[in-house]
Amino acid sequence: MVAQDTQLLPPSDEGIARAAQLLRAGQLVALPTETVYGLAGDARNSDAVASIYEAKGRPSFNPLIVHLPDVDSAKELVIWNERAQVLADAHWPGPLTMVLPLREGHGLSPLVTAGLDTVALRLPAHPLARRLMRESGCALAAPSANPSGKISPTTATHVMAGLSGRIAAVLDGGACPVGVESTIIGVYDDETRLLRPGGLAVEDAEATLGAPLAGAGEGIIAPGQLTSHYAPGASVRLNATSIQAGEVLLGFGPMACTINLSEKGDTREAAMNLFPALHQLDAMQPKGIAVAPIPNTGLGLAINDRLSRAAAPRD
Ligand code: TXA
Ligand code: MG
Repeated sequence: MVAQDTQLLPPSDEGIARAAQLLRAGQLVALPTETVYGLAGDARNSDAVASIYEAKGRPSFNPLIVHLPDVDSAKELVIWNERAQVLADAHWPGPLTMVLPLREGHGLSPLVTAGLDTVALRLPAHPLARRLMRESGCALAAPSANPSGKISPTTATHVMAGLSGRIAAVLDGGACPVGVESTIIGVYDDETRLLRPGGLAVEDAEATLGAPLAGAGEGIIAPGQLTSHYAPGASVRLNATSIQAGEVLLGFGPMACTINLSEKGDTREAAMNLFPALHQLDAMQPKGIAVAPIPNTGLGLAINDRLSRAAAPRD
């Protein structure tokens, strides 16, 4: 991989125009979305998509999410259905990704879908992401803008710390308001399935559909079965009710702790604070990070999913 001088672009007309120009030229630009920063490349350009995997050091070709400016662009890529329309009406643009069957002649790089006959689509709500998609005219393939397996970035500083020298530019949009990745729902012919809990509460998606999501009640898989992901340098211990020597405590609700995700016990506020808190605790280089119990309701499901992966045994 060729080392590059990564530009930090301001959220001005000039900054956006430069980012759009780089994307059209097949370069990689990290951009803010309301969930986390994404590492974006032109989803129709296989060179650009291959560079995404390379810059992240992703060991395998996991399928990526394609980001689009509007529902019409989505309908050009996939076989649309009634449940997708209902979910889109209620939650797009926003922190929802839908997996749908690919349409013939979609034009996306096969690296985006890793050879599957479905694709993950999302309309981000962040105004900078939306402007960049319109100005570049690109459908943007974008995983979270962090080196593979590390904590996801919610500020331009986080992105720079992880990927500087490996990508063309970062568009600085400040802190991401939701703070955890999108909720992924498979809108298949025979079922509507929760594939990843995230920034849209499962309860809200189910209320929109008027039916429970398949897979939603299955809960968090035992940490031992999870591949390590979102991993800080220190080990992570969940559901801690007290701390051990050398540990820092990530709190939730009123308590004494090193950093509190939400003193008032609000899962939405806690989601926004989760990755910045993990970055901060990691920088303190503790022996371990103990985490107080967090309820599995609202965005708590997504938070516990990320924390379980952070706590999973490392390779
Ligand atoms: O909020 C987000 O979703 C962020 C921002 C940047 O948009 N993106 C993100 O991307 O989290 P990434 O690559 O870290 O996660 C994409 C997830 C992966 O777990 C992948 O397995 C799943 O989406 N995925 C993609 N295409 C799929 C498909 N066709 N079927 C099932 N899962 C799919
Ligand atoms: Mg990720």
